[in-house]
Amino acid sequence: MSNRPEHIETFVRIAEDLFQSDKLPEAGRAVASRIFERLRIPSDDGKRHTTRYPACEFIDAALAPVIDLPTQIGAAARTIKLLEPALGWTRRTTGSHGSDNYIEGHVHGMICGPGGAESRYDVQLGFSVMAPNVRYPDHSHPPEEAYVLFTAGEFRQKDGDWVNPGIGGGIHNAPGSQHAMRSGSNPFLAMWCLLT
Ligand SMILES: [Fe+2]
Repeated sequence: MSNRPEHIETFVRIAEDLFQSDKLPEAGRAVASRIFERLRIPSDDGKRHTTRYPACEFIDAALAPVIDLPTQIGAAARTIKLLEPALGWTRRTTGSHGSDNYIEGHVHGMICGPGGAESRYDVQLGFSVMAPNVRYPDHSHPPEEAYVLFTAGEFRQKDGDWVNPGIGGGIHNAPGSQHAMRSGSNPFLAMWCLLT
């Protein structure tokens, strides 16, 4: 039983599978299963951060290589496009070591979480988009999170090396641990979930 709009329910179901991929670290799969447990129950206070930002224009180009694939990533990409008019949008404007273009060059789309298509406060499920050649600032946050990549892209944790987990692969960020991400010569899109 669900009183959720169909496209949100479809996305949650596909995302739950993608976050259980064996291309993710075990801790990423573990936090995701706790998040998707909470997502079994829809909850929406109706708040919508509907203001779009310039980097929304990179969503189509980021998804173009996967959108017609008969895979879970392809199905998730098609659902993002169906959901796009209903999403909430935010962007970060603080943090160190971000590239000069990072503010205009990125946006976060919220599917389930504050101001998103299903506005709630116990979890976050959404995605980040970056223009080519953007380095997102170092940051940390108390909630634990996991990512799954829809495109090429690199992540760095603390002072470690930059790594590209590959499409369908991902990372896990422990609570409060510093991390960053960057795009290469193509637009970047990665989905995340946080336990808040
Ligand atoms: Fe983060």
